[in-house]
Amino acid sequence: LNTQKQIALIVVFFFLFAGSCTAYAFIDAPRAERQQDFYKEESIRRGALLFANNCRTCHGAKGEGGVGLSLNTPDFKDQAPLILNENRAMLRRTIECGRAGTLMPSWLRDHGGSLTSVQIEHLINLITAPADRQDPETGDPTSEGWLLAEEFSRNLNRETSVIVSGDTLDTIARQHFIGPRELAALNNIPLDEPVRRGARILLPDGRRVEIFAAEVSVQRIAEDNHVGAILLAEHNNLAYRYDRDRNQVILLVDGREVPGLLPGDTLSLPDNAVYIVRAGDTPQSIAELHGITVSDLRNRNPRNQDLQQAGAQDELEFQRSLALPPNAVAIVQVGQALPGIALTHGLEVAELAALNNIPATATVAPGTRLQLPANTRYRLQIGDTLDAVARAHNTTADELRRLNNIEPGERVTADVVLQLPPIRAYRVQGQSVADIAEDYANVSAQSLAEANQISPDAPIRVGSTLRLPEDAWGTAPPTALNPGTACVQFALPQAIYETLPGVGTPRAAPQRPAAVSQQVVIEAGLEGGEFFWRVVADGQRQPNNQGAALIRPGTAVRFVNVNPGLHSITVNGQDRAQDISAQGDERTVTFEQANTTFQITCKYHPAMHAWLFTE
Ligand code: HEC
Repeated sequence: LNTQKQIALIVVFFFLFAGSCTAYAFIDAPRAERQQDFYKEESIRRGALLFANNCRTCHGAKGEGGVGLSLNTPDFKDQAPLILNENRAMLRRTIECGRAGTLMPSWLRDHGGSLTSVQIEHLINLITAPADRQDPETGDPTSEGWLLAEEFSRNLNRETSVIVSGDTLDTIARQHFIGPRELAALNNIPLDEPVRRGARILLPDGRRVEIFAAEVSVQRIAEDNHVGAILLAEHNNLAYRYDRDRNQVILLVDGREVPGLLPGDTLSLPDNAVYIVRAGDTPQSIAELHGITVSDLRNRNPRNQDLQQAGAQDELEFQRSLALPPNAVAIVQVGQALPGIALTHGLEVAELAALNNIPATATVAPGTRLQLPANTRYRLQIGDTLDAVARAHNTTADELRRLNNIEPGERVTADVVLQLPPIRAYRVQGQSVADIAEDYANVSAQSLAEANQISPDAPIRVGSTLRLPEDAWGTAPPTALNPGTACVQFALPQAIYETLPGVGTPRAAPQRPAAVSQQVVIEAGLEGGEFFWRVVADGQRQPNNQGAALIRPGTAVRFVNVNPGLHSITVNGQDRAQDISAQGDERTVTFEQANTTFQITCKYHPAMHAWLFTE
């Protein structure tokens, strides 16, 4: 190369270099913007997915509202900076804290929810995205995010079917302790001692199983191998097949496999069956389940104080408790603290602390003796033995046996176990079409039956699969209202906050109208982001949530849903008709009682109010 060429090349290289720098500078600025757009888009996508997973059951698949308010509204899409800021702050507070007294839960992890603050930002980005699309069904302006959310709810998260639940041979066997005893007897091994690795256990149907775990209880072996289910099937001459691959007992009817038992059918139980009490059981419910009387049950269990004393409709103890000697003490065991000790003795922490002259927050060292009030009972925990309980209360197992009428050799577990007379007609329990419909906010027995081409009162086998109607919203919200969190006062319209129990006074009834109305319709609807009851008396519309009408006793009042939304028709605190949910749903309630004030509310939306007065 000569010098001239060298210089020319250097110049060219220089320009190439400089040029690329400026070019880079030119493309860099838009790239940052695109990066931000990309982040926003991705965030909205994630928001849409989160929405489909967590919010759609109450707010509708595309945010159109239902149980909860509509979130797909022009208001939230407004991009004017000040309004947008306000909206974002309100949304953040509401999603983080929930709304006290309503079904809107708090979602932030720090407040007991399931979402992080980043996930909540994604949701806010979804809700506040500008309108850039049209809803193909309604023509309303919407955003791509909402269309995505609907798509997600269709494809990813949509439950299209539901499995009918209820009794199976396995659950009936477990509830009646059928299987373990028979298995122990068959193999000549003790019922209450663990079986060790290497043992070969004979099953009632001739199979043999080898134990691979170090130690396993007889009960567990019986359950894992469906021993009780097989015994029950044989005892009732039910045709069945044991499927080794699926490890399942499959029922057969006319040689064909069926999903499970038929609710309402009756089964006979082996004679030594017992019943393990469940939470919510009453003497009456247990007797009805087994086709016996309450006195049959009481006669078989003379030593069960609770059963002897409880009324037929009273809930029974389902966790066994033991009487302790007078002047009993609790000796603190390793790992125990005051609250746990109070709980297992059915005491308040404050009560136990006061009796022992220590602060309720005190730490108690192992070995400390805590005085217990007279007549304290100890609730047995899973894994407790009489010996251990006795030691922890400075007494002996024999003394506990004597105090609690426990016979020698009787099994003492945390469960409350009732002896049964011979049972010939155990009634199989299972969900009806109506039971299943009740779990979904906008599904009725009728619509569910139609979707499956069956009758709404057809009995369906436990384990059958039913299709849900196309437009089902999903599982109904938990009925528990948001109790409020530390930050809740910010996430609540003041007017509603004031009406909360313990916070303010309930809303006062308006003036009783002077004139009697002949025809009263009460509409449920949504306006300006608030659900309302609106009284329409003889064609006159009254202000939302403030309406009142005077009627003659015996007048039938129509309740009409003018927008979609789940509402209960709650009159003076009691539901008077089935909930309304779809637009156009109607119910009629007759108000019989004379000279009475009726306050109409909705248990899902505390802001909703209307009043009726009878002459
Ligand atoms: C169990 C039902 C339920 C679920 C699930 C639920 N919400 Fe709500 N939400 C409600 C109800 C009910 C209201 C209205 C409360 C009231 O009456 O003020 C509400 C209100 C809101 C509001 C206030 C709207 C306004 O205009 O004031 C926002 C925002 C909101 N929910 C967002 C969400 C998001 C996001 C999710 C999912 C993470 C979600 N909700 C899940 C029931 C629910």
